[in-house]
Amino acid sequence: MKIAFAGKGGVGKTTLAAWTADYLARQGKNVWLVDADTALSLGQAAGLAKEELPRPLIQRKDLIEERMGAGIIQLNPTVEDLPERLAVDIPGDGPGRQRLLVMGTVTNAGGGCACGANGLLKALLSHIVLERDEWVVVDLEAGVEHLGRGTVQGVDGLVVVTEASRRGLDTAASIGTMAMELGLENQALVLNQVPRGVGVEGVLAEGVSLALPSFPGLRDRQLNDTRVVGLPEQWAIDTGVERLLALLS
Ligand SMILES: Nc1ncnc2c1ncn2[C@@H]1O[C@H](COP(=O)(O)OP(=O)(O)OP(=O)(O)O)[C@@H](O)[C@H]1O
Ligand SMILES: [Mg+2]
Repeated sequence: MKIAFAGKGGVGKTTLAAWTADYLARQGKNVWLVDADTALSLGQAAGLAKEELPRPLIQRKDLIEERMGAGIIQLNPTVEDLPERLAVDIPGDGPGRQRLLVMGTVTNAGGGCACGANGLLKALLSHIVLERDEWVVVDLEAGVEHLGRGTVQGVDGLVVVTEASRRGLDTAASIGTMAMELGLENQALVLNQVPRGVGVEGVLAEGVSLALPSFPGLRDRQLNDTRVVGLPEQWAIDTGVERLLALLS
């Protein structure tokens, strides 16, 4: 199964993606974690040190040129070997294997055409989501621009994450609608970081699939540590992830 995490900035997409992958690996599933965000934080959230992160594919000019050609752009580049070649293993409590692929985002900074890089990124992402029969967790960039047809087509489920605010819910609704229009109807809406004492019954009735509190264990830890897994609240997190997976399957 393939699941993508979308939502506006800072709502917890990366955190939820890392929790999901960690849960699946403890259930014995092998998971590909795909960081398709510019911030490149999924690896560190999952437990890698900064120095252990793979170089984003987008910066691999050598590979881009090798696969896409320097002149006329190759339309169907060979990418089958790239997941194994580019991925970095994430240590975890297993028994499933977690592997991280870092895509990066295409920018035109510095001028010139980024079409080759863009083409290779798209080809690799669609290879992973369309042709591999494995668990894939994709951490998308904030907003909706990333929800291209190519990404969405092969994904089996979309988790839209929002903070507990009306504005957040409105943004989540537009992301959901956009994904629907692209044909991705299997969606779950997660209200994340609900402050203590705030009642969520009203929004649960409005189609929110799951509400997660703001976990003190994570708030305490994050000043010194980028990891979001292995928290004291693991039981509550696992219960939430289980619920999410059941909703999407
Ligand atoms: N349920 C939670 N309880 C406590 N802290 C949380 C929770 N969910 C996320 N956080 C914290 O909120 C911050 C934002 O989370 P995260 O980086 O996952 O969001 P994001 O949507 O991926 O952000 P970006 O748009 O920048 O990629 C992080 O510091 C994270 O540790
Ligand atoms: Mg993120």
